[in-house]
Amino acid sequence: MSLVTLKSLLYKSNKNNYAVGAFNVNNMEVLEAVIRAAESRKSPVIIQTSEGAISYAGLKILFSMIKTAVENSKIPAAIHLDHGRNLALIKKCISIGYTSIMIDASHFEFKENIKQTKKVVSLCEKKGISVEAELGTIGGAEESVVARKIIYTDPSAAKEFVDRTGIDALAIAIGTSHGAFKFAGRQELDISRLKQIKKLVKIPLVLHGASCVPLWLVSRANKFGAKISGAEGVPDSQVALAVKNGINKVNTDTDLRLAFTESVRETLAKNKKEFDPRKILGPARDTIQKIVEHRMKLFGSAGKA
Ligand code: G3H
Ligand code: 13P
Ligand code: ZN
Repeated sequence: MSLVTLKSLLYKSNKNNYAVGAFNVNNMEVLEAVIRAAESRKSPVIIQTSEGAISYAGLKILFSMIKTAVENSKIPAAIHLDHGRNLALIKKCISIGYTSIMIDASHFEFKENIKQTKKVVSLCEKKGISVEAELGTIGGAEESVVARKIIYTDPSAAKEFVDRTGIDALAIAIGTSHGAFKFAGRQELDISRLKQIKKLVKIPLVLHGASCVPLWLVSRANKFGAKISGAEGVPDSQVALAVKNGINKVNTDTDLRLAFTESVRETLAKNKKEFDPRKILGPARDTIQKIVEHRMKLFGSAGKA
């Protein structure tokens, strides 16, 4: 299929109360794992690239690889810029053919966030490209997403933000963090805040930092030489509750990284003589596919393509 917009995917998920998974992709194996999972689960999907992924792989190569993979598949998929902060890069993504852009100006105060978001909406609407923005802040740290404290999204501010910016999807903060170390205390999301936001905001809602950090992956990675301690994610039951109460797009990166790391460590530890990259990365692709398939079922997007 050809690439579709985020708006078209999320219009359906909002109407029918499920979420579409947005998976971060940096290289060919992760991309293939996500596409294979979507085909096997017959699920729509959002392929997203962070600014860090683009600087790692290069915009042209990453975009052409994703476009070709989607066009060779039978599933509807959007290509989305995740946490766009650099206006020059946002413009390049728009002109190369991204069907969706996230402008993340959530680290600015309310008025400035609105101003920057509106600027990107005006660039995108001319070309029929969807826009996601964020209000409140997700915690945690990734390469290009600075560590910060969680500031929960205020429901009435969310309504005003959506009305004033004209965005297509809103990322909200209800207790999640990026990365593998999400909770100091109870692994719980603020579902009552989500319900209040959903009553006021009619556009699709997005949950970032939603990896569940499967314990079996962490302990197997540790068994084969990793040293990851204290990792904790969002339990599947909390993700399911968030989807039930109005989340329509769920972002996942950390679980894919953990699956990749576990598999590569296991393969290398068990096959000390192996040095063919295909024999090392092939199993990693399969492990990531399993994780993505599980999440598509959890989000309720399986069978919706
Ligand atoms: O939300 C952040 C994503 O996990 C991307 O992380 O900037 O390290 O590519 P990255
Ligand atoms: P995780 O770190 O929980 O996978 O979140 C990824 C994310 O929100 C990408 O935008
Ligand atoms: Zn994020």
